[in-house]
Order: sequence, then structure tokens, then C-alpha cells
Amino acid sequence: MSVFRIQGGQRLSGSVAVQGAKNSVLPILAATVLARGECVLRNCPPLTDVEYTLDILRHMGCGVKREGGTVWVDASVPTDCVIPDELMREMRSSVIFLGPVLGRMGRAELTYPGGCELGPRPIDLHLAALRTLGAEIEERNGRLICQGELTGGSITLSLASVGATENAMLAAVAAKGTTTITNAAREPEIVELQEFLRTLGADVRGAGSSVIVIEGGKPLHGGEHTIRPDRIVAATYLSAVACAGGEGELLGVDWRQLSTVTAALVEAGCQVESGSDSIHIAVQEPLGAVRPLRTAPYPGFPTDAQAVVMAALCKAQGATVFVENMFESRYRHVDEISRMGADIRVEGRVAVVCGVPRLFGARVQATDLRGGAALVVAGLGAEGETVVSGTRHIRRGYGDLAGDLRALGAKIWLEEEIVI
Ligand code: EPZ
Repeated sequence: MSVFRIQGGQRLSGSVAVQGAKNSVLPILAATVLARGECVLRNCPPLTDVEYTLDILRHMGCGVKREGGTVWVDASVPTDCVIPDELMREMRSSVIFLGPVLGRMGRAELTYPGGCELGPRPIDLHLAALRTLGAEIEERNGRLICQGELTGGSITLSLASVGATENAMLAAVAAKGTTTITNAAREPEIVELQEFLRTLGADVRGAGSSVIVIEGGKPLHGGEHTIRPDRIVAATYLSAVACAGGEGELLGVDWRQLSTVTAALVEAGCQVESGSDSIHIAVQEPLGAVRPLRTAPYPGFPTDAQAVVMAALCKAQGATVFVENMFESRYRHVDEISRMGADIRVEGRVAVVCGVPRLFGARVQATDLRGGAALVVAGLGAEGETVVSGTRHIRRGYGDLAGDLRALGAKIWLEEEIVI
């Protein structure tokens, strides 16, 4: 079993280039199904979720090749429209294939993704959007069987869901006619998906705003794209420096994509300077508590940064209130961080972090991606050794967490632990 072994209590100092964004590369890989030619994606992060997605593309008959951070996908002749159960179980966000596969092949089949560590993960908005474009969707024995000729339509999302927006965009590109998506998610990953689709020859406009307009129905060709840096990984590394103290430089990052996170860290007492594509953070004094942090759709405070910023504030003087509005069960890291001496009280969607003078290294277990990263952040700010197990959760979203943090001066290693 692999673990992260951390010698905490050391101030950090260093710089690191931030990996490509998981939540950009996954929908973009799904979008390659729409291209009748080869797509080349650069700066793809080495994540297990990327590997699962490449396996789905292979299963569908696409040519797939990977060399380091570059991935080639050729969907000229896809042969299968069924997404295998075992891959759906590994990665529920595979539901993003529904739109592009249906749009390209006229049929798509997958098992219902179901809930995950964060609580229920419904896809009603995805299905409603596809039905608006003419899809016939049957839900039978836990499977979704979708078919039909797609035509443009007017989609209104009751929630600015990231995945539903992406699925609707990918289906609409194949649907004949004009599609309007209202109350679309505005995340940077949506803007990047639009950029990639336009590279393939699609007519997509408005991403980044609440209304996206797509003129669909024309065949798409292949294209090339370089994945942008991951704003949540950047938030994780900023939180690591904030928790451990010291200073750090993150390269390649657009500070505007995580301004709500940097604003909270500045309020806590960090010095943050942003360049055109870098962020520098320095922490001299003990941190202070900040005003309540409420997670919200972009450009609000990102739910994916909630756990790591919470870890950074565990030693802040005073109490910080977190309100998790996006997912039902996103405080599973709290019990584990509490084993390190943190004082956090959870009541439903509200968590109150009462700052303590010190954290102590402990053996802790990751149970989800960002909660697991938060345990590593807390370990860097704790005295003594911390061992984090459950690293498979963390490797879904961080290509080389230990290597990146060592570049920032941390004493952390990913090790195989022999369990006797
Ligand atoms: C994306 O998930 C991200 N995943 C998540 O990142 C991120 O936390 C989330 O967006 C919010 O920013 C990827 O991009 C692969 P949503 P997604 O649909 O699309 C409800 C990480 O750590 N909802 O915007 O699943 C849903 O239950 C992951 O990298 C419905 O009710 O998120 C949730 O409460 C975790 N019906 C809210 O909307 C639907 O049909 C927001 O979910 C769809 C969603």
C-alpha cells in the first residue's frame, strides 16, 4: 500500500510549475470523440482519472497514444457506444461521454454513475438537457440507454452545473441547428472546452458567461490544444505554504482564476503577489481567522478548495466558518485532521474551525481527492511525522504531489508501505 510520508514543521521555500487541469482535460478528452481526425493534447497531467478516460476511448475503438504529457486520440472510426461498467464505477464523471458519444454515434449506453465520497451525484440536469435536444433516454436496470438524432434547442439549467453544461455543449455541437444554454456554468474549464471545440471547427460562443450559443451539426476535424494549469492544484500549493509557513512561487497560473482563494489567504495574513502567469506567496507571521467562506459556483469560492484552505487555517488565531453549499458530504477530512489536534466542529453544511497553536503529526486516511490533499497540507504544518494512506484518491487529481511539494521545500515522499 502506498502512503505519503511527511516530516512536518518545516517552513517551505521554492517554486513549482503547476500541472495541467484535471477538470479541463477530462471533458476535452470526451470531446475528441466528436472529431473525425486526430487530436493532440499537450500538458496532460499523469492522473488515474486521465488513464480511465483513455481506457474508455480505447474501448470505443479510438486510436490512443500517450508519450509523457502528450496524448494523441484518433476518433475517425469509433466502433462502440457502450461505456464499460467497471470504468463508470471507477470514475463517475465519465457521464461526460453521454453527449459526445450520442452526438457522434446516435446511441450511447452507460451505467448510472450513482453517488460518490462527496454524497449524491445526480445527473438529472444532464439528462434533461439531452432530452431537450431530442435524445430518447431509457433508464433500465441501472443502465442509461440513449439514442436519437439530435437537433438544436433551448436549454435552461436550473443549477449552473459544470458537468451538465459540458454535456450539453458536447451534444449541441453535434445537434443540427442552434442551441442556447442558459444558466450555464462559468468555470474556466468551460471556457477552455469552448476553445478546444472551436479548434476542431465548432461554432461555440459565450463560455464564461451564463449564456452559451452553439451552431451545431457540422462535422468536426482534429486539432491540437495545450491544457491550462490546474487552479485547484494551485490553491492546494498556496494552502500548503500558508499552513507550513515560508514562501513559494507557483508558475504558469492565472491568478484571476483563484482570486477568491488568494483573497482569503491575504485576509489571513499571507503576502500574495500575482504576475501575468505566476503567483508568489509569503507567510511571516501566524495566520488569523477570516470572514465566513461560502462555497459557490465560479467565480465564487471553489468547493474544491474548501478542504485545503480549511487545513491551512487550522492553526490560525480565531475561528473561521465554512459553509459547503455545493455537496452534501464534503467534510470527511475533518475527523482525520482532528486526529492531528485540529479543533473543527461540523453541523450539516457548516464547519467552524477554531484555531489551535499547533498540529501534531499522525497516521491519517484519505477518503476523497481534495480531503486527502488537505491531510497532506495539514501534515506539512504539523510537528513530527504524518503518514497519509488512501493515496489512490489523491492520485486521481495530483500527478506528482510529493515531487511538486518537495520543489517547494517540503519533506514529503510517496512510499510503498509493507503491511504485515
Ligand atoms: C465538477 O463536478 C468538478 N468535476 C468537481 O470537481 C467540482 O467540485 C464541481 O464541478 C463543482 O465545481 C469535474 O469537472 C470532473 P456540478 P460536477 O454538476 O460537474 C448538483 C474535484 O475535486 N447537480 O457543478 O459533478 C450536484 O449534486 C471534483 O476535482 C444536480 O443536482 O459538479 C452538486 O450539488 C469534485 N443535478 C451541484 O449540482 C445534476 O444533473 C454542482 O455539481 C448535476 C449536478
